[in-house]
Amino acid sequence: MAGLTTTKAPFIEEARSHGDMFIHQPYELYSDENHQTWARLYERMLPQWQRFANPTFMAGIENLMLEPGRVPRLEEINSQLHMLTGFKAEAVSGHVPAYIFFDKLRQRIFPTTITIRDGAVLDYLPEPDCFHDMAGHVPMHMNSVFADVLVHFGEIAKQAAERVKTFGSIEEQRRVAASNIKALARIFWFTIEFGLMRKGENEICAYGSGLLSSFSELEYSIYHKRPQRYPLQMEWVINQYFEIDHFQPLYFIAESFEDLYEKLQQVERMLLDGQLDDVSLGEPAVSDIDLDSFLYA
Ligand SMILES: [Fe+2]
Repeated sequence: MAGLTTTKAPFIEEARSHGDMFIHQPYELYSDENHQTWARLYERMLPQWQRFANPTFMAGIENLMLEPGRVPRLEEINSQLHMLTGFKAEAVSGHVPAYIFFDKLRQRIFPTTITIRDGAVLDYLPEPDCFHDMAGHVPMHMNSVFADVLVHFGEIAKQAAERVKTFGSIEEQRRVAASNIKALARIFWFTIEFGLMRKGENEICAYGSGLLSSFSELEYSIYHKRPQRYPLQMEWVINQYFEIDHFQPLYFIAESFEDLYEKLQQVERMLLDGQLDDVSLGEPAVSDIDLDSFLYA
């Protein structure tokens, strides 16, 4: 049975064919194999988390009370989240255009994938799956400062969308919007997805969800000699291209979640001063769908 396996789920195909972006989690459709895949992923990540994850993430995992042996139900996740930070995980059928994604964060809603990767190829991810979203991202949403950081991404995106409309020609609006989206996507990537954080005097730990859901890159990001690790600096991050299909060559280290929040406030000032209007070219590419989502917000 296909169940809710990434790229092979008829339920998702159906939703996409109708243009339904926000959907529900048809829990009964998960196959036994889907639940077993979750259990295997969880079991092998747990000792890695204990060694390399930041304490906030571990507290989130404990407070969420996820059952290790089966895919979590979004209602259960949300009842825990709601009490602590008001955040909510909402099921989506696939890619959410950039502005809509950030605006959902502003409303304390996290667009959440419900399919799970194929258990036969545990480390191959053709697209994000529910282990990345529910085990990698959601536990972080139990922390109030981190939740405020996500909301602030949404607020900056809203300001960017409003501001870009004040530019004269449509060509200039599109150029500036593309630059603003690139800057925001890069910041999200190097913090929320692949961020490292200082832990005590001499240690670092991971808070980025791309790391926390990756069996091999989590340890690599902290201990391997090869990657570069630098203190988080937004002027650099907005101009730094990234690629998604291999281990990162570069990680940025935040001092704390409060530090991250303050640096996002700095990004807001940079946006309003026009410093995000002409960031360096290169990855990530900004699609017309992402661009239109900002211009017609
Ligand atoms: Fe992610």
